[in-house]
Amino acid sequence: MKFPAEIFSRLKSAYDGRRVCVTGGAGFIGGHLVDALHSVGAHVTVIDDLSNSDLEHLAGLIELEPDRIKIVQGSVLDDEALKEAVSGGRDGPVRTVFHLAAMGSVPRSLEQPQRTWSVNATGTLRVLEAARAAKASRVVLASSSSAYGEQVQAAGGRTPGAPGLVAKVETMLPSPVSPYAASKAAAELLCTAWSHSFGLSTIAVRYFNVFGPRQPAGSAYAAVVAAFARGLLAGEQPVIFGDGGQSRDFTYVGNAVLGTLLAGSSEREFRGEVVNIGTGRSTTVQELAEVMARLLGVPHIQPAHQPARPGDVRESLADISRARQLLGYEPVTDLEEGLAETVEWYKRALADA
Ligand SMILES: NC(=O)c1ccc[n+]([C@@H]2O[C@H](COP(=O)([O-])OP(=O)(O)OC[C@H]3O[C@@H](n4cnc5c(N)ncnc54)[C@H](O)[C@@H]3O)[C@@H](O)[C@H]2O)c1
Repeated sequence: MKFPAEIFSRLKSAYDGRRVCVTGGAGFIGGHLVDALHSVGAHVTVIDDLSNSDLEHLAGLIELEPDRIKIVQGSVLDDEALKEAVSGGRDGPVRTVFHLAAMGSVPRSLEQPQRTWSVNATGTLRVLEAARAAKASRVVLASSSSAYGEQVQAAGGRTPGAPGLVAKVETMLPSPVSPYAASKAAAELLCTAWSHSFGLSTIAVRYFNVFGPRQPAGSAYAAVVAAFARGLLAGEQPVIFGDGGQSRDFTYVGNAVLGTLLAGSSEREFRGEVVNIGTGRSTTVQELAEVMARLLGVPHIQPAHQPARPGDVRESLADISRARQLLGYEPVTDLEEGLAETVEWYKRALADA
């Protein structure tokens, strides 16, 4: 992941030598965030229970920079492990906590609603308490566009899927339609409350469908870009749940990481603000399947359709005006470029497997 020189030097002057903690830093987005923090000179402690990841990527980084990159293997529900990660032992406490540890995936949350609540909502409360005890100055929460739900009312009663997309704006009230979405909306509210009650600066970045290299592709819960890449490379039809007309704001992981770093480094005093991190461009899942089949040189492979899944929203498109205004965020990698990098990575990874 590369940022334009001017952005890179701004981030470098903000993070060089700064001590930060990344919960969920062994995961997909967390791993890319740690890479970026490493490249701008931060000292990073990761806490991850490896329930949805492994140490493969981080181990290489830790071997390279044992003084700057560390990992505490444990859960955000374990106060001792969390304390170790955030208070930093002899190195002193961290300044910024990036809280990405969570049980992801809408379908998984329908199967394990209580576990989803406990990791995502109670886990956020524990992270806020640990950050407060360590006198950290900011917590950045990885939240999700799923908190919006369908927003039919905001769209003037329009039937979802009808022409004329309505972008999701942060002034819309959350309307979660899955346990996962509810847990993320709750986590946001905890951040707001902790800011007002205890003066801890917090901000929630609502990611919109993040994709990129290293996103897990093998499970039933795989995100759509990863699942399509794996399927198409194996010569299989990608599976679309529903008619394929559902649309998403597919966001390259480098853009999500940039928004997160800007949220962590802004000099503004945040009080639980919610900020969309997406691209402002809508793509249907059917279009995505076609573009990816072309990129992988198999345009003749047509998707197979299965029934729509409960908990999935029909449309999801970010209005990124607030991110521009509050954080100076602008996506740096467009969909085509991000997809090309991603499919190249899957080609190499699956050839090596
Ligand atoms: N990928 C997306 O499109 C997307 C979209 C919106 C929001 N998000 C949010 O961004 C964050 C990162 O997502 P991701 O796609 O990298 O997922 P991921 O599953 O790859 O990363 C989450 C990490 O958290 C770890 N983890 C889970 N439970 C834990 C616990 N109790 N204690 C410590 N670590 C724990 C997992 O092992 C994993 O390494 C999550 O909070 C997710 O909800 C992701």
